[in-house]
Amino acid sequence: MKLLFNLSGEHPELPKAEISAVLEGEGIAYRIHSENEKNRILILDVGTEDPLFIKRLAMTKRVGEFIGISKNLRVLAHKLYERISEGTFAVESDSQTIREKLGEEIWRLGFHVDLLNPDTRILCFRDDQSNYRIAIEAPLERDFAERKPQNRPYFHPTSIDPKIARVLVNLARVRKNDRLLDPFCGTGGILIEAGLMGMKLIGYDIDKRMVDGCIENLRYYGLNGEIREGDAMKLMPEEKVDAIVTDPPYGRSSFMTERNIEKFYNEFLLSASKALDPGKYLIMILPDSSDLKTDKFEVKENYSLYVHKSLTRKILVLRRK
Ligand SMILES: C[S@@+](CC[C@H](N)C(=O)[O-])C[C@H]1O[C@@H](n2cnc3c(N)ncnc32)[C@H](O)[C@@H]1O
Repeated sequence: MKLLFNLSGEHPELPKAEISAVLEGEGIAYRIHSENEKNRILILDVGTEDPLFIKRLAMTKRVGEFIGISKNLRVLAHKLYERISEGTFAVESDSQTIREKLGEEIWRLGFHVDLLNPDTRILCFRDDQSNYRIAIEAPLERDFAERKPQNRPYFHPTSIDPKIARVLVNLARVRKNDRLLDPFCGTGGILIEAGLMGMKLIGYDIDKRMVDGCIENLRYYGLNGEIREGDAMKLMPEEKVDAIVTDPPYGRSSFMTERNIEKFYNEFLLSASKALDPGKYLIMILPDSSDLKTDKFEVKENYSLYVHKSLTRKILVLRRK
């Protein structure tokens, strides 16, 4: 089937990278049907009729089954009629004029408008060449704001933002029941997102208070895992996992200078390499300036992430060689 994704404008590359990684992780074949970067529209032909994977996405604003592209809204209304022939509908568009014009064309075909609780929501996007693209919306779960770290039983200011945590997990090409390790788990921000997507959770932290807090936070979301006090720098081959996703310390503590933090990351890479078989992924979010050296991993992707005026971080997608 063809799916139309309206990508979030939060980052130029991550929304698309997240979709590709989730499809790869879920083992779903796909090809790009068309793309309109300016309007943040991506249309993919995906090898599934049951696109449950979309519920995992954090950086897609809206998504739906692609119906067609035309300069003529009447033509599109007829295409829609070939796909759905009854029920109530609402048109979703940034433009009031499009909502009215397309709404009228669909109404002429015998559908009734219900703006509050329609059977079908129709997405419509217009590009600079006056082409309209329409899709039947598939609802996404959008509850990141409810999961902000301040709302959890155990809070620490270093907790990662849930939306970023979800993107990191998705970049790891994991699926339900895969074993996912966060060896610097802190309050559990990354593990919560992985747990809500059905992965098996393993977490270590060197600080006992964090371990207890992480367990408490996971329980708050009905999740559990193997969470214990442990040193991320001493991972063992018998602790093999399907992926490691982590947000290590970034040198705020007094004993870490910029130079020894890099040494710390490089040593961690060696430790992480022991817990991953070739082809498996390690995802890290680090200070933008860090320069890692490793012969154990191939750097597959590297994204710069603006957090605020004085903080830019980078996301590294590393694949075990
Ligand atoms: C940036 S915080 C992680 C925050 C976490 N992502 C969250 O959402 O709460 C880094 C964590 O690494 C832990 N840590 C530092 N050195 C460690 C080590 N050698 N092994 C395991 N954990 C360590 C710290 O106690 C801290 O909780």
